[in-house]
Amino acid sequence: MTPDVRPFVAGNWKMNGLSGSLAEIEAMRLGADAGEAGAAELVVCPPATLLAQAAFKLSGSKLGLGGQDCHPEASGAFTGDISAPMLKDAGASYVIVGHSERRTHHHETDELVRAKAQAALKAGLTPIVCVGETLAEREAGQQAAVVIRQLRRSLPPETTSETVVIAYEPVWAIGTGLTPTFGDIAVVHNGIRALLTEIGGPSSAKTRILYGGSVKPTNCREILTLNNVDGALIGGASLKAADFLAIAAAYR
Ligand code: 13P
Repeated sequence: MTPDVRPFVAGNWKMNGLSGSLAEIEAMRLGADAGEAGAAELVVCPPATLLAQAAFKLSGSKLGLGGQDCHPEASGAFTGDISAPMLKDAGASYVIVGHSERRTHHHETDELVRAKAQAALKAGLTPIVCVGETLAEREAGQQAAVVIRQLRRSLPPETTSETVVIAYEPVWAIGTGLTPTFGDIAVVHNGIRALLTEIGGPSSAKTRILYGGSVKPTNCREILTLNNVDGALIGGASLKAADFLAIAAAYR
């Protein structure tokens, strides 16, 4: 936690969810509006096919909406891609960029991630910029260096603490049930905060830095109270409203 920073809990549904899953979003909405997330801001990022229907359900609620990726261009001949203005138009306020699954399967570079973050900002979306080391990099003790290098290259210079969210997701912890030790998480988050302060000055003390990778109701409390951990980006455990709300309830 960081003093005076509103925590942020986001669910990344990845390529999961058909229209029947809107019932889970409805249950999340009920929980968010009943204050189950306490002080935390709660956001769900369903697949793009569900965004507009979810936005309709969430109108006027405390549960926010995000996309999972955007193209750097606003429009054009890019078959199958989705632009930041399209996500905004569908009702999103956030967009995940640079998730390790995109970096790995779609060969996304830091430079492309930065261009996507810039497109998001231009469209009035808040980018959730993801970084994280692979298992080989972790075994070589390079986690902090890798994350700092990715962030230096992926963060647009115009971002401020209000206009960007950062997510540290060690690749080897995603979907595996493995997590770094609490000490290891704290070291990387402290390093990210130091970098943000170096490049953005004191206002960067308020940029939200999320942890992601096998966050569950059973381990969230310890992780979310660590220094400079301002929330979580949750994959598998965000698919069910009960689990997602149980994690957010750490902030009640
Ligand atoms: P899991 O919570 O399933 O490990 O996924 C984390 C993640 O990739 C969120 O973006």
